[in-house]
Amino acid sequence: MDGVRFYRADASSQEPSKLVRRTKPARVFHLSWSTNLDECEQNPETAYGPARAGLMSLLKACKETGSHLIFMSSDGIFGDPHCERFEDSPPCPINHYGRGKVEAETRIRDSGAAWTIVRACPLGFNRHHNRGLVNWAVQSLTEGKQVTGFADSSFTPLSAATLARMLASVARDEAGKILHFVSAPPISKYDFLRMAARILGAPETLVTKGSIRNAKFKAPRPGRQDLQTREPEKRVFEIERELEASLAS
Ligand SMILES: NC(=O)c1ccc[n+]([C@@H]2O[C@H](COP(=O)([O-])OP(=O)(O)OC[C@H]3O[C@@H](n4cnc5c(N)ncnc54)[C@H](OP(=O)(O)O)[C@@H]3O)[C@@H](O)[C@H]2O)c1
Repeated sequence: MDGVRFYRADASSQEPSKLVRRTKPARVFHLSWSTNLDECEQNPETAYGPARAGLMSLLKACKETGSHLIFMSSDGIFGDPHCERFEDSPPCPINHYGRGKVEAETRIRDSGAAWTIVRACPLGFNRHHNRGLVNWAVQSLTEGKQVTGFADSSFTPLSAATLARMLASVARDEAGKILHFVSAPPISKYDFLRMAARILGAPETLVTKGSIRNAKFKAPRPGRQDLQTREPEKRVFEIERELEASLAS
């Protein structure tokens, strides 16, 4: 992204607010959060810490400097499968990770700073840590290993490249809005892995159909993770292209 400088700072600390006061940026992209749902469940401070003192002081700094905070939230704020999942739907989280993001969103909305909340499910090859759905899918399928995909768990993921482009396009006149960026149609983890196998040239038979109800996670996982948007003409991307871009990343 042209004109964007990256800083690494502990989101639970005062460091980000000090950076903002020092650099007075027009926009602040807040992307850092623990994505380890099981760790958040076992150690709730991991989920709530970044939503508390560090965020409060960052919001205060943004208000002082007039910086526009663009906050990366999550599809994880919707957990109950019966919930609607639009920009204005009430959140219904089912684990600490989701509740931590809801707490952060509430603080941001009440802050008086200029803010935009983005909700999406990013998907890309993680070069820093060997973890995540894409790393696991690419490694397993290219090595000919059998994988299980949940047929009863759907989501609307976006490639990291598309998400970065959409984040960069968030303008000041979108302050005060919640934006959903989604792929369509919603896809089950099972169909997603079969599509990944096809794109990678691996046999689709490597993917076994499973159920999220039989998975042994520490944090409850939603059966539905898909996001909906009231602005489909601007914010919906085709799932196969998004998956191709993620696998190529
Ligand atoms: N992955 C998903 O399925 C998903 C879905 C919806 C929304 N999101 C959101 O998208 C954003 C980016 O996540 P990602 O998918 O790129 O996951 P990721 O690869 O796990 O990246 C998260 C990054 O945040 C850093 N981090 C964690 N806690 C931090 C803290 N207290 N202070 C500073 N940095 C911290 C991590 O540092 P380390 O490198 O040290 O671990 C990691 O580099 C996050 O806000 C996440 O909640 C992710």
